[in-house]
Parts: sequence; structure tokens; C-alpha cells
Amino acid sequence: MRLVLLGAPGAGKGTQAKKLIEKYGIPQISTGDLLRAAVGEGTPLGVEAKSYMDKGELVPDSVVLGMVEERLRQDDCKDGYILDGFPRNTAQAEALDGMLENLGMPLDAALSVDVPTEDLMKRLTGRRTCKDCGQMYNIHFSAPASEGACDKCGGELYQRDDDREETISKRLEVYEEQTAPLIDYYSGKGILKSVSGAGDIEEIFANVQETLGLS
Ligand code: AP5
Ligand code: MG
Ligand code: ZN
Repeated sequence: MRLVLLGAPGAGKGTQAKKLIEKYGIPQISTGDLLRAAVGEGTPLGVEAKSYMDKGELVPDSVVLGMVEERLRQDDCKDGYILDGFPRNTAQAEALDGMLENLGMPLDAALSVDVPTEDLMKRLTGRRTCKDCGQMYNIHFSAPASEGACDKCGGELYQRDDDREETISKRLEVYEEQTAPLIDYYSGKGILKSVSGAGDIEEIFANVQETLGLS
């Protein structure tokens, strides 16, 4: 399965991608995760990216495109990949098409995960992530058994720097302006599918699999 996951910040792209990895072993390529890793390592790319991420703006295409291509060339992507949070604008989508054509691994589908805008703020301000294993929680919807610690591995939970209300509002604005047009872009190519991202995570996952023809 060669897939792009589309959806607003907080729609559940990461949550559903992790379930697809667990069940099908398809690697997830999250540009947000790759950028946050670079920020954490303090690389020059990370330092540059952080200034945009903290404002809720998109990191320049030149930074992201190189990173994605390098990742797609790795062996584990030969049998499929899930792009999460990429592409983010039409220029990235066009560049991706060129890249995938060269690599001989074109997309099967772009799946849009749709959630009402009014639900997103609560999901994002409530998100907590395990430092050690990456498991995601939400203090409003799926709280860990003991506050601040991961149920799976006991690791410390942290809140993302860009999950502050002001930055979230900017990210939602940027999504509407720059990323939402990709729904038409992929619809025009005949590979758009969509699924509701509201409700129970397991039910959404069942719909995701059905929509993608995996079950
Ligand atoms: P990125 O990391 O991609 O963030 P995002 O798009 O804003 O999306 P999120 O990761 O916040 O949301 P998600 O859909 O993954 O939701 P999740 O599953 O975590 O990007 C961050 C920044 O990096 C950007 O602002 C930009 O600066 C930069 N960047 C990244 N990619 C870029 C690119 N290609 N080009 C340029 N810049 C780029 O779920 C959210 C919360 O909701 C969790 O707590 C979860 O537990 C909960 N939840 C999930 N599903 C449900 C449900 N069904 N019911 C209740 N709660 C739920
Ligand atoms: Mg995510
Ligand atoms: Zn953990």
C-alpha cells in the first residue's frame, strides 16, 4: 500500500498511521516526526525548521523534499509506505509525483481523514506523547492510567511545543489555505478516498481498512 494521509492538524493521521504499521508493517513517513527528531538533535536543519514550527508555519519545501526523498529510497519503503503530513501544499504534491515516478513507486491512494474543525483544538491541547515509545494519549479522550507516564513502557509523557492554543490556531489556518486544496488535487487524479475521523479510534481504523480495501 502506497498511501498519502491527508487531514487537518489533530485529525488523527499519526494515530491511524501507527495502527497501520502495527497491523500491516507498512512504514510511516511523518515529516513532522522527522523534523522534530532533527530539532531534538540540534542539527542545522533542525534549528532552521524549529523557527517555522514554533510559529505554526510550514517549513520551506526545499528542507522537507530532500528529507522525504532520502527516506523513500530506504529499503523498507519498497513494499509500501504511508506519508503522514506530507505533501502539505501543491508544490510538494507535484514534487512528490515526480519523485515517485523516478523511483517507480506511484501512489495507490490519498486518504483524507475528516474531522469537524471544532473538535480539533481539544484533541491538540490534550495530546501527550511518550518520549520513549511514541505512544500517543489524550488527557480528554484517552488518558494514561497514571498521569505523566506511559501505560505501555512507563516512559515520560511530553506535550509538543506547537500544541499551544495560539500556534494551533495558526496551524489550522495554514491547513485551510495551503493543504486543504490537495483534496481537489488528488480527487482530480482519481485516487482520493475519504473517511470520517470522528468517533472511536478503533471504529475509524476499521473504516480506514475497509476504505483502502485492506479488509
Ligand atoms: P505535523 O507533525 O505533521 O503536525 P500536524 O499536521 O499539525 O498534525 P498532528 O500531528 O498535530 O495531528 P495528527 O493528525 O497526526 O493527529 P494525532 O493522531 O496526533 O507538523 C508539525 C509542524 O511541522 C507543521 O506545523 C510544520 O511547521 C512542520 N511540517 C511538517 N510536515 C511538513 C511539510 N510536509 N512541509 C512543511 N512543514 C511541515 O491525534 C491528535 C490527538 O487527538 C492525540 O492526542 C490523539 O490521541 C487524539 N485522537 C486521535 N484520534 C482521536 C479520536 N478518534 N477521538 C479522540 N481523540 C483522538
Ligand atoms: Mg501527527
Ligand atoms: Zn511509552
